[in-house]
Amino acid sequence: MALYDPSSLANLSEIRTTHIHLNWNISFDERKISGHAVLDLLAVAKVDKIVLDTSYLDIKSASINDQDLKFHVADRHPSLGSALTVELPQAVEQGTKLKLKVDYSTTDKCTAVQFLDPEQTLGKKHPYLFSQCQAIHARSFAPCQDSPGVKVTYSAAVTSPLRVLMSALHTTEEDAGNGLKTYHFVQKTTMPSYLIAIAAGNLEGRVIGPRSTVWSEPEMVEKCAWEFQDTESFIATGEKLLTPYEWGRYDVLVLPPSFPYGGMENPCLTFVTPTIVAGDKSAVDVVAHEISHSWMGNLVTTCNWEHFWLNEGWTVFVERKILAYLHGELERQFSAIIGWKALKESVNLFGADSPATILKPDLSSGIDPDDYFSSIPYEKGFNLLYHIEKTVGGPAIFEPFMKAHVEQFASQSISTEQWKAFLFKYMEDNHGKEVVDKLNTIDFDTWINGKGMPPVDPQFDTTLADQCYALAKRWDEARGSDDLSGFTPSDTEKFTSTQKSVLWIRKSNSYCYRSMIVVFLERLTDCEPLPHNLLAKMDDLYKMTEIRNADVRFRWQQLCVMASYKPIYPHVVEFVTEQGRMKFVRPLYRLLYKAEGGAELAKDTYLKHRKFYHPIAAALIEKDIGIQQ
Ligand code: BES
Ligand code: ZN
Repeated sequence: MALYDPSSLANLSEIRTTHIHLNWNISFDERKISGHAVLDLLAVAKVDKIVLDTSYLDIKSASINDQDLKFHVADRHPSLGSALTVELPQAVEQGTKLKLKVDYSTTDKCTAVQFLDPEQTLGKKHPYLFSQCQAIHARSFAPCQDSPGVKVTYSAAVTSPLRVLMSALHTTEEDAGNGLKTYHFVQKTTMPSYLIAIAAGNLEGRVIGPRSTVWSEPEMVEKCAWEFQDTESFIATGEKLLTPYEWGRYDVLVLPPSFPYGGMENPCLTFVTPTIVAGDKSAVDVVAHEISHSWMGNLVTTCNWEHFWLNEGWTVFVERKILAYLHGELERQFSAIIGWKALKESVNLFGADSPATILKPDLSSGIDPDDYFSSIPYEKGFNLLYHIEKTVGGPAIFEPFMKAHVEQFASQSISTEQWKAFLFKYMEDNHGKEVVDKLNTIDFDTWINGKGMPPVDPQFDTTLADQCYALAKRWDEARGSDDLSGFTPSDTEKFTSTQKSVLWIRKSNSYCYRSMIVVFLERLTDCEPLPHNLLAKMDDLYKMTEIRNADVRFRWQQLCVMASYKPIYPHVVEFVTEQGRMKFVRPLYRLLYKAEGGAELAKDTYLKHRKFYHPIAAALIEKDIGIQQ
């Protein structure tokens, strides 16, 4: 199949990688990885050169069978990096296999890796290194065909003074002298380059299930083991809904606080932010989400970043199916309501007329996929699938399709068009004209290519949200009133009691309770900024500023900063400098920057803590608050 990827500079239509072997040395002192990559390549056309993606790599040599080859690193494309062209001594025919070795090292500009000083870790004694390759950062730690359309197996031998983990199965390790060890890994299931991942540091593991270990710095490993106890039940539910789990192990690595995402579905080893280790299992949705990627994204992969929604929309859909299986349909509905709100916020941020709001955006101008990252592929994608589910006759018809989709496309990289063609074929073959007629009532073109909000109102069940809306309404209507005596500390506790009376919801489901406070606060962020006396009263009654759950903390601070409520500013500064998850820090920086007396504070805070942030986060925050790079 021809490959089109506007986000890669490689000559994908001429040659394909089948396997990558990485031989790396980690130097914490020099803050770099050096060594070589060996790419097994297959010519898919007659070809006389190999063009690979690189970004800020220091390329030392390129060879085949120990014969050095001429190579050239092109001038940098602002977002796609620098093409590395290796010239073959003579053109080779289609079907030829080559083993290309590239010697290189990373530099301090590489965006895929963050080296942390000991002071930036929990234990404060050892340095730490971790990578984040999605979407197009793999090219900044290995020269490769950095396209999700290319699926490879990989192996690695990494020499390091501290324990190394990768998104693969660990096979052996041996002493390498001088206090170093070499760790060996293999990934036998084909996967795209953006799923190669590494972490090295003072890491300790605890077994949490038959195929799962949780890893973190020793100081928090017990807490992590407790938090992620439900992991196996999520995997097992995924297997029930879809196909047997393919990857052998499902380990979780809890990273230091600068990890820029909530979670990252690196195969065999999900990476998560420590902000979800809340001590009450209230952020389990992130793990359910990353587990769902084991099928949607990692087995069935988008062919390029224009179809990113196939990864994330499907994953959110499966994540909510898993939650519904374990906690009931009402919880899926509730989670979808929260998602709809996130979608509205993204559409408002970009503007309803922005090309960034399109489910399948056009990236042909070489735009950085990170710049388009938002809730749109997640939630518009989820809503399209949810709408199809309802239209064809509900879960009884849609769930078997979901499984068939995975069986059909496992180990492939696919486009929206392939997904849609199989949807129609499946429904035709299994349910005939009646269901195909229903499918034909859907305006696919507007869903897939239209801007702004989706063309259909999903009408989620608001049973769980109603009480949050009601309380928000009371606060909204209290503006201008001096008598706030109707509000009591137990207002939000009532959420729990009502929740317990709902039979489907498990008792003491803190994920659900947390969500209720979030929905209450979100509703208020849709209203005019609240007067300061109301915010002060709310804080006094509900102790909002004290709540440590990161999602609640984020929404509360957002509400306050939107009202330029200055007593919250120091807490915002504290929150955005103790963790670097973009979902929280970017909106807070943007709001603070716009708030009364906040612009300088936002800039000063960022500049003072610039080194703390992961390079991906730093670049985006700088765009958010108008700092020139
Ligand atoms: N794969 C994403 C993270 C990602 C996407 C990184 C695009 C880089 C580029 C991951 O699965 C994800 O969606 N994480 C979410 C978790 C959430 C939806 C539960 C996050 O980080 O917030
Ligand atoms: Zn995801």
